[in-house]
Amino acid sequence: MRQPFGKLLLFGATGDLSQRMLIPSLYGLHADGLLPQDLTITGTARSTLSDAEFRDFAAKALDTHLPEDRKDAGAIAAFLDRLQYQQLDASDLGGYAALAEKLGDISNGLAIFLSTAPKFFEPTIKGLASAGLAGSNVRIGLEKPLGTDLPTSREINDAVASVFPEERTFRIDHYLGKETVQNILALRFGNSLFEPIWNAAGIDHVQITVSETVGLEGRAGYYDEVGALRDMVQNHILQLLALIAMEPPARFDGTSIRDEKVKVLRSLRPIAGREAGDLTVTGQYTGGASTGKIVAGYAEELGKDSRAETFVAIKAHVDNWRWQGVPFYLRTGKRMTERRSEIVVQFKPVPHSIFAERGGVLQSNTLIIRIQPEEYVRLLVMAKEPGLDREGVRLREVPLNLSLEHEFAGTRRRIAYERLLLDLLEGDPTLFVRRDEVEAQWTWIDAIRAGWETADVKPKPYAAGTWGPSAAIALTERDGVTWNE
Ligand code: BG6
Repeated sequence: MRQPFGKLLLFGATGDLSQRMLIPSLYGLHADGLLPQDLTITGTARSTLSDAEFRDFAAKALDTHLPEDRKDAGAIAAFLDRLQYQQLDASDLGGYAALAEKLGDISNGLAIFLSTAPKFFEPTIKGLASAGLAGSNVRIGLEKPLGTDLPTSREINDAVASVFPEERTFRIDHYLGKETVQNILALRFGNSLFEPIWNAAGIDHVQITVSETVGLEGRAGYYDEVGALRDMVQNHILQLLALIAMEPPARFDGTSIRDEKVKVLRSLRPIAGREAGDLTVTGQYTGGASTGKIVAGYAEELGKDSRAETFVAIKAHVDNWRWQGVPFYLRTGKRMTERRSEIVVQFKPVPHSIFAERGGVLQSNTLIIRIQPEEYVRLLVMAKEPGLDREGVRLREVPLNLSLEHEFAGTRRRIAYERLLLDLLEGDPTLFVRRDEVEAQWTWIDAIRAGWETADVKPKPYAAGTWGPSAAIALTERDGVTWNE
């Protein structure tokens, strides 16, 4: 394990992410004795707060977002002692000297967590450099949105790279911090069972679903500019696809794993021009009932009409030897029937059924990797129903069930950011996204968006609380495939 850093600097410290995720995650690490003894955490943001006021803010965040059984008054007090605050207008170069002064001696290393609006990236990086906060013992974690397309993402990455070399740049995709996402590696490369058939010969198709029940959540300014394709597919879903489709890496390290992922991302078959209208479906939710409540439609929530898609489904292909001809159906949306992130791997049928002439009907094996809210790996296999079979063999699909919640019941589930913040502090880049990956992701996404322009694709309405527009069903049904619902 590498040497942990002595100081942590959080930009956007009074924001929503900080409140909901970062502060509770840091506390979780602190309470388990995983933070270096002398680590101080400096928060910075636009608002003027004293150290004491920032500690109050953090105390409230913990009170609201920690489960009751994690609230330990002694541990909370000691955690709050680590915190301090410095006001900063990120666009004002003049303010960074005071920030450096507040941080004090950074000779034991400084880790920075930067989440900011795109327009502040460049000034922030310049400010950090001007105040001596970008030297060889400083690393930087970057939270999305890192641009809205390939050119703007390059601009941000260039600005960062002018000061921080790639090995000190940690791009966050919080899906990679999720336990069940990392479990894809264990499942594929820790078992000999799947790999021999993990290819076009053994697999019929793959489905990746990330459905949410939430709507805009007060993020109109951001979401309406990006839509579901850029908010969810460009990053989280493509990372899931890369983990499912990649070749076995030679080592468990940042270089080997990311080398393999980027090869997949670069092998995505471009969906461009009019094809974008055939291989994708976009939708926007209208009013309906979601999780038992009547909810407004997107345009109503937004207060104006919009062309932003709150749902997208895509039929993708990975053009290499392993995956030739295997469709990857991807979909994500807001205000859908339920919150569910899962990967479904549908295997091919047996080459010849010996049961057919005795009336037995076979279904192909299915592997379901449920990432959230439940955590399980379920393999559906055929079994014979008990009986004397006088009227033919009855076969039924039954699950071989690995419930991670059950098998690892004694182990606390951590917030994805706990893992990522600790890896940032310790300098392990394996679960962070490399620049070449991000650029391959944007290249594929930008072509789809350009195709939507060409084909004048408009989002189709779907009622809140449903699985999206009916065209999304047609997208798979015309291949004889049904979404796992
Ligand atoms: C974020 C998106 O990256 O991921 C949000 O910006 C989305 O729109 C969120 O709600 C989903 O994350 P999770 O961990 O709840 O699946």
